Amino acid sequence: MKAETSVPVHEIIATRRSPRSFDETATISDDNLRGVLEAARWAASAFNGQPWRFFVGKRGDEVFGQILTSLGEFNQSWAKSASVLILVSGKTTKRDGSIHADFQYDCGLAVAQLVIEAHHRGLIAHQMTGFDKTIAQSELSISADLMPVVVIALGTQDVPEKLSGPLLERELAKRERLPLSEIVVKGLPA
Ligand SMILES: Cc1cc2nc3c(=O)[nH]c(=O)nc-3n(C[C@H](O)[C@H](O)[C@H](O)COP(=O)(O)O)c2cc1C
Repeated sequence: MKAETSVPVHEIIATRRSPRSFDETATISDDNLRGVLEAARWAASAFNGQPWRFFVGKRGDEVFGQILTSLGEFNQSWAKSASVLILVSGKTTKRDGSIHADFQYDCGLAVAQLVIEAHHRGLIAHQMTGFDKTIAQSELSISADLMPVVVIALGTQDVPEKLSGPLLERELAKRERLPLSEIVVKGLPA
């Protein structure tokens, strides 16, 4: 479902969305998986610090199971059908050892590029902060200098009717955003 934008924007932005109906039989090729990770790799970051670190699991393998275990019950119910789960973590310190206050911002930029590349490749991506960071740390043996930030479910979209109840409602809901007049506090062009 295309976003009803107030002015035309690039097709890839208008058509990107976060579905929850994943085809549980689909797999992602290594070419596509490398492609989305490469897109993330080329994100901008403060001082080119590149604090992002990725843990990638394919459905059925150990890492996928470990990431899935860290998800909240609601997220597990649909994300288990994704082809790939990626846990994005960030380095909390800079190369000189000082605290990196903005690592989550940089990680967000990398994830935005990953998601757009996934959409460009005909895949769907759904980000989640509904997971337990402590469980993720221990399941994946994440080192103490890394902080889990977000999990991304990647895969192939299936029909909404695969879902039921509130999940189906959300899948079919109209996509909405706050108006520009509310989010541009000062300086909105006419
Ligand atoms: C940082 C972040 C965390 C999110 N966490 C969850 C989550 O835990 N579970 C979920 O079902 N959706 C989650 N979402 C998806 C949002 O609900 C979704 O992006 C939002 O409703 C806008 O919909 P759209 O992406 O289809 O435009 C998350 C999205 C972002 C960016």
